[in-house]
Amino acid sequence: MADLAYVICALDDIPSQRARGFDLAIVEDGQEKNFPIVVVRWGKQVFGYVNSCPHHGARLDWEREQFLDPTGLRLLCGKHGALFELGSGRCSAGPCKNENLKPVQLEVIDGDICITGVTLAEEDESDEDDVEA
Ligand code: FES
Repeated sequence: MADLAYVICALDDIPSQRARGFDLAIVEDGQEKNFPIVVVRWGKQVFGYVNSCPHHGARLDWEREQFLDPTGLRLLCGKHGALFELGSGRCSAGPCKNENLKPVQLEVIDGDICITGVTLAEEDESDEDDVEA
């Protein structure tokens, strides 16, 4: 079966050089589990990571409800201040230096940001937003 691409939001829903979190749920080994992600947009490019810090597993937007550092050039974990490169997810400073955020496969299809490579848990399986990748 071809991988499904699930629409997360429109590309234009995230301004360039901004990040936004999504609380998704996926099905893995027959079990539904929470799958929080962060999506970074940079022009026409998008980068996605699981919203879980490699240091202690905290959400990056822990408490501050923000993903980017004050310069807007790196992702910041609000818990202990780890900084991550936007394009690679590699930690460049902080307690988990050189570790990586877990990447999420994203594609822009017809102006929508779509996630692939996972099975989303959906209440309505006939959701018309799904497109074949
Ligand atoms: S949990 Fe992210 S820096 Fe400690």
